[in-house]
Amino acid sequence: MITEDIEIIKAYLKAGKNAVIPTETVYGLAASIYSDEAIQSIYKLKNRPFENPLIVHVSNKQQIKNLVTAIHPKIDLLINAFMPGPLTVVLPSNEKVSKYITAGKSTVAIRMPNHSLTRQLIDDLGFPIAAPSANPFQQISPTSAAQVNFYFSKFDLPILDGGPCQCGIESTIVGIVNNEPVLYRKGAISVDEIEKQIGKVTYNAPTIIHMPGMYKKHYSPTTPLKVVRDLSEVTEVEKQKKIGLLTFSELPNSSFFTTIKVLSETQNEKEAIKNFYNYLFELDQANLEQIIAIKIPTTSEFATLINERLEQASN
Ligand code: TXA
Ligand code: MG
Repeated sequence: MITEDIEIIKAYLKAGKNAVIPTETVYGLAASIYSDEAIQSIYKLKNRPFENPLIVHVSNKQQIKNLVTAIHPKIDLLINAFMPGPLTVVLPSNEKVSKYITAGKSTVAIRMPNHSLTRQLIDDLGFPIAAPSANPFQQISPTSAAQVNFYFSKFDLPILDGGPCQCGIESTIVGIVNNEPVLYRKGAISVDEIEKQIGKVTYNAPTIIHMPGMYKKHYSPTTPLKVVRDLSEVTEVEKQKKIGLLTFSELPNSSFFTTIKVLSETQNEKEAIKNFYNYLFELDQANLEQIIAIKIPTTSEFATLINERLEQASN
């Protein structure tokens, strides 16, 4: 059920039930951090493996302090620079954090979403909420209430409609390993912006076993997806099919596509990221036999971000 009534959402979360919240990145499937039952039910609803921990959402810095044993000075700099905003920090957790949130790890991932409705919600509740993206395991993260409803309409699960997500892609996740900053997931805040604050950040540290997005398949449409460098890779057989195209900018000679989604007419990277999941979802809804996605042809950080997500979506 989609609603704009924050009171309904509050009542569900207070009662130890699940509800869906809007954020600036993607929609989240939420539970009170103090209800183990509601937290476990997140995993069941999403069909998510239990070893994949959840992010805790807070509305102020004191709530972060309440859940951790220490805040590394570099993480503190990031908190002050980017929160509220699309950044998640991984910190050593204290005993208040349920093992169902951390999946038994000694650390907890925390973020302060920059969405007025959700911050008001957490303020009013007075306790943080755990929330992964509101999609079934391995499917496309939802960037609107209607998309969440498509996934979960048959459940008793109110969805707080906060409009389309302004970033459209998940938060960037940063933590500390062996006293050094580590990037666990690329996301809405660029590594460049992070490094301006705290210096060099390492990606793919070998000590990390459970990397976010480590599952080979992720963010996937149900329609077969093929990622190509350019249209010469589209075969004659494919051209006879009902196919859709996802492209960064407009392309000549693409008349054999039934549907074409251009991520940004003006080639604006932020706009392209905002549209990415949304257009992938829409193409998936368009009854196509195949989706063709063109890799972004540059080596910018933004291009890598999109191209890696495309790679995971096509596995
Ligand atoms: O933008 C976002 O972060 C969205 C919105 C809803 O806030 N949430 C989101 O949650 O993307 P989810 O569950 O889809 O992805 C969270 C990622 C997982 O891949 C998980 O492995 C990682 O965060 N994570 C959680 N706790 C962690 C920890 N203690 N150490 C390392 N990674 C952790
Ligand atoms: Mg997710």
